[in-house]
Amino acid sequence: MAETTPEQALARQRKFIVPAVALYYDEPLLLVRGEGTHLVDVRGKRYLDFYAGILTVSVGYNHPRVKTVVSAQLEEANHLSTFYLSMPMIELAERLAAITPGGLEMSFFTSSGTEANESALHMARLATRRQEVIALRYAYSGHSTVTRSLTGLASWRPPVEVPGIRHAHAAYCYRCPFHRTPDTCNYECARDVEEVIRTTTSGQVAAFIAEPIQGAGGFITPPDQYFQIVHEIIKRYGGLFIADEVQTGFGRTGKMFGIEHWGVEPDLMTFAKALASGAPIGATIATREVGAAFTGPVISTFGGNPVSMRAALATLEVIEEEGLVERARLLGERLRTGLDELKARHPFMGDVRGKGLMQAIEFVRTEKAPAPDLLREFMEGTMRRGVLVGKGGIDGHVCRISPPLTITEAELEEALAAFGETVRDMAGRHPELAGMA
Ligand SMILES: Cc1ncc(COP(=O)(O)O)c(C=O)c1O
Repeated sequence: MAETTPEQALARQRKFIVPAVALYYDEPLLLVRGEGTHLVDVRGKRYLDFYAGILTVSVGYNHPRVKTVVSAQLEEANHLSTFYLSMPMIELAERLAAITPGGLEMSFFTSSGTEANESALHMARLATRRQEVIALRYAYSGHSTVTRSLTGLASWRPPVEVPGIRHAHAAYCYRCPFHRTPDTCNYECARDVEEVIRTTTSGQVAAFIAEPIQGAGGFITPPDQYFQIVHEIIKRYGGLFIADEVQTGFGRTGKMFGIEHWGVEPDLMTFAKALASGAPIGATIATREVGAAFTGPVISTFGGNPVSMRAALATLEVIEEEGLVERARLLGERLRTGLDELKARHPFMGDVRGKGLMQAIEFVRTEKAPAPDLLREFMEGTMRRGVLVGKGGIDGHVCRISPPLTITEAELEEALAAFGETVRDMAGRHPELAGMA
């Protein structure tokens, strides 16, 4: 039988999949295989995946160690419900308790980051017997009604939100909401959390939730003291601190968890994506005190699924044994240097930011006007050169670069060369952008 072409697949998708499931690229890719750091399309063209399936295949596609462990588990049992004891789930809970900072000890497993965040909110509310929650503008928390309500980006929010959630300003230094610069700002954005508590809540907050680096927002990276100040405020008002590590967790930023860059010990953390390097998973971990308050029955049918649990355990082993956290730090430095060099030559690369192997380029025109058209050109150009990257930012104008932590130095140089050729091409096509301010 003849292979399905991308054009045929697109027609069938348009007919049978809701349009909200959006596609990248003018001619969407029909991918059929993952091989380590590469994806292969139906025509056999190979791409370096510098988006890692949305920061998910942390140890690459089909890592031999993960594959072996998952296959072995499939021989044993592909599903076990949480009404029975299951060693893969218990072992992963123990492992997470061992590697997370501070006193995080008790886990609840689900199948996605959406559920992990929704469960964190539920647990925080049970533990504090309070309802109100502070989230951040530019956040992305998931696709359920509660997590869409936590989200701070219009296109991802629900038409009608759930009550009890307030949004403080984000630590978006490139577009400071207070029109300050980091050296003189006195962390107005962090202090806004207190202003929001005092003016828009009853003062009795259950929790603050934030991504250490805001993913879909465009890898918005808060300055050094930001989370320490917010943590002090939230504790003073009796609330819990929830770190959404769905994008930043498990080595991505050059530390095991993103929040460790800010030296804050959260009361709850949420995980998904990279934890199992591609197997469906969500996890919420809490301090013993907070976790113990989560009584009353709960079922997440696929939460604790033994195949996903084994995939996660194997992923964590690979991260540790291959030294991938330190590798993300070192290769991240090289990636950042390469991007900064390009930025210095091309003013339409308005900002380069991030940590480790989580770096973004914000594309702009004169006076920082967001330029989604330039990001589209960049994505088409890099894809043609065999490198895939992601999109983010409130205007879809921020390029997200986040390869598997297993990339080689040579692959990183290959990607940087593709980025360089692409922006040089763009500069040639847009002479009007050369002298922009
Ligand atoms: C920071 C963050 N939290 C939560 C989610 C939701 O995760 P999922 O898509 O697995 O439900 C995402 C998804 O992109 C995310 O980036």
